[in-house]
Amino acid sequence: MNLLVFDSGIGGLGVVREIRRLQPQAGITYLADNAFFPYGEKPDAELLAHILRLIGAAIGRFAPDAVVVACNTASTIALAGLRAAHARPFIGCVPPVKPAAAASRSKHIGVLATAATVRRAYLADLVQAYAADCTVHTLGTPALAELAEQKFAGRAVDPLASMAPLFTRPGGENIDAVALGCTHYTFLLDEFQAAYPEIAWFDPALPVARQTLAVTETLPPTPRRPDAAWFTGAEPVSGAMRESLAGFGFKEVGAF
Ligand code: DGL
Repeated sequence: MNLLVFDSGIGGLGVVREIRRLQPQAGITYLADNAFFPYGEKPDAELLAHILRLIGAAIGRFAPDAVVVACNTASTIALAGLRAAHARPFIGCVPPVKPAAAASRSKHIGVLATAATVRRAYLADLVQAYAADCTVHTLGTPALAELAEQKFAGRAVDPLASMAPLFTRPGGENIDAVALGCTHYTFLLDEFQAAYPEIAWFDPALPVARQTLAVTETLPPTPRRPDAAWFTGAEPVSGAMRESLAGFGFKEVGAF
């Protein structure tokens, strides 16, 4: 079994970590589109065309059995087009609005995501379907994904100032559950939980990995290929970055 897991940067590695726990036998090719980061700040039409082109090229090169779009911003805009263009399973990523709404007692939930995910109909549809009984407070910011990148590369970061408005804006004090609507935020979860221990935090990484297992366990077995991480932009050269990637099972790193 060979999976292509894709994100605009390091965010999808949180999903990789959970896939490795659930499917240690799966080969994983990771594609970080860091040349086009951040997705959350790109115009919709440009981003959609870009993702369709990039994933088409990656499928041509790696022939994965299934593709995990480990990025909410990409999933909200490109999943339908990808599925229409390629005859293989695609597993997408949705902000965990459903479990957050179910867990909330105050019926005020937060959604932290990129600006693009916050404004897209995809999120509005999720809220309508699973959180119609909740007041949903959204915060879209480019800062947090960038801070997650920096932390992964070994730098000290303080993400709290960028997320605090979720709780300080009117009504925000009622929030008791927050859905992380961007895979990069998995890497900031420790800071969020430490600062707001009374909040129930919902991370998409494990649900996406579970869905990947459910979708791929019915596929015919294929020989595992070596794991590798590919970057569309500057290859990570720093020792800290390479060490972090090795910790996720990617000793081989290259430019796509
Ligand atoms: N990791 C991406 C997501 O889940 C977003 C980061 C970006 O803006 O590129 O939405």
